[in-house]
Amino acid sequence: MEKTVSQYKVHIETFGCQMNEYDTELVRSLLKAKGFAFTEDRECADVVLMNTCAIREHAHNKVYGHLADLKALKRQRKLVVGVLGCMAQSLKKELTETAPIVDVLVGPDSYRRLPDLLERAIATQEKDNGVKGIAVDLSEYETYQDIMPERATGITAWIAVMRGCDNFCTFCVVPYTRGRERSRDPQGIIREAEHLAAQGYKQITLLGQNVNSYRFEDWDFARLITAVADVPGIERVRFTSPHPKDFPPALLDAVAGHPHICKHIHLPLQAGNDRILALMGRTYSRKEYLDLVEDIRRRRADIALTTDIICGFCTETEEEFLDTCRTVQEVGYHAAFIFKYSERKNTIAARKCQDDVSERIKSDRVTRLVDLQKAISLQKNRNMIGQTVQVLVEGDSKRSSDQWMGRTDTNITVVWAKRGSSTGPGDFRPIKISHVPATTLFGDEIPAQVASGHLRQLVG
Ligand code: 5AD
Ligand code: SF4
Repeated sequence: MEKTVSQYKVHIETFGCQMNEYDTELVRSLLKAKGFAFTEDRECADVVLMNTCAIREHAHNKVYGHLADLKALKRQRKLVVGVLGCMAQSLKKELTETAPIVDVLVGPDSYRRLPDLLERAIATQEKDNGVKGIAVDLSEYETYQDIMPERATGITAWIAVMRGCDNFCTFCVVPYTRGRERSRDPQGIIREAEHLAAQGYKQITLLGQNVNSYRFEDWDFARLITAVADVPGIERVRFTSPHPKDFPPALLDAVAGHPHICKHIHLPLQAGNDRILALMGRTYSRKEYLDLVEDIRRRRADIALTTDIICGFCTETEEEFLDTCRTVQEVGYHAAFIFKYSERKNTIAARKCQDDVSERIKSDRVTRLVDLQKAISLQKNRNMIGQTVQVLVEGDSKRSSDQWMGRTDTNITVVWAKRGSSTGPGDFRPIKISHVPATTLFGDEIPAQVASGHLRQLVG
């Protein structure tokens, strides 16, 4: 007897950025509405979907590795395989020709078509081998405004406020895989935040490929983030990823002044040398970036900064790389994501610049910069020993169910022993930091009666 859709179990694997995690939540919601069921276990799935990332070679290779595993699985039993997201968008030809096990390919603007394409692929799965459904049109309008994502946790949630990117940094594939910038109606975003607050969520991260260029009629990002932070019950609001070109004073004032906007800005530097920044099309100089850092710190010295950096971009010399190291030292980031340049097909850099820094030199520069950043992060974290920080409890620590894990407002992970206290996920607790072996802070929960005396000292 034929199975109905509700008997088909879908397993979704997500690669890449937070926007992809969020898109997986949208996809779950769209499939659930059509009656599909889900499983965490790939082995008992009827449909395996991979929500993919195309940003670097490494992400690519991971997906190809998983496709090879699925090929073996598909030889043993009936299985529908779908590739979603950025790789589906950018590699439709390669995926249909070199990976004939893929049944369905759906790009980031076409998820509404996924349930129908899956149903069709399921119905025809024995008839032919090859792609049964492709939907990779990019849209100037799709924001999934009306779809409420199926969220995983009950404490922190993402809301995508805009999608796509118009910046065309020369190294970046995102404008090609996710299309033009478009922003959601602020009223829908605020309603979603209110709904989350009513369900007990405490923290919201506003997402966008270029989040601070958000614009809808006379709403800009400063107005939007303030409105979300004003929603009763939402205690913390974060945002990622911004571009340094879109930080008007009103946004800096909102971050520095609003008690519910986290004192943390992720400020992608990419490179600390003007020639390389110009070649990357970043539209700011080293000095302009450092002036922005100064502006931020003048408003509030305790705002934590994190960043993204690419090592070994086309024609980068040793001296130019050292400019990046000097900038990292000068800013003193809390943390940094450091990447080897990875040429992406069709980008401006792939067409116009030569990827001429050897793999060995790229790796060497990444290692040196990672070591430098580790030393800076460790110093900053150790400076917190003896201080009491306000932590949002997220759940058990990775290592032990006898410990809680939470984060400071500045997004640093804190771990402490439960010791039978009544604390639980979603609570805010003052933790006194006692030791810092590496990037995680360890401490002790301050009992409520003692904590009130500590409130003046609370940081983070
Ligand atoms: N190679 C290496 N890193 C890249 N990023 C984006 N494109 C590339 C690329 N082609 C990095 C940037 C960006 C982060 C999300 O990924 O640092 O900020
Ligand atoms: Fe890519 Fe630049 Fe857009 Fe960020 S701002 S998504 S790096 S093109």
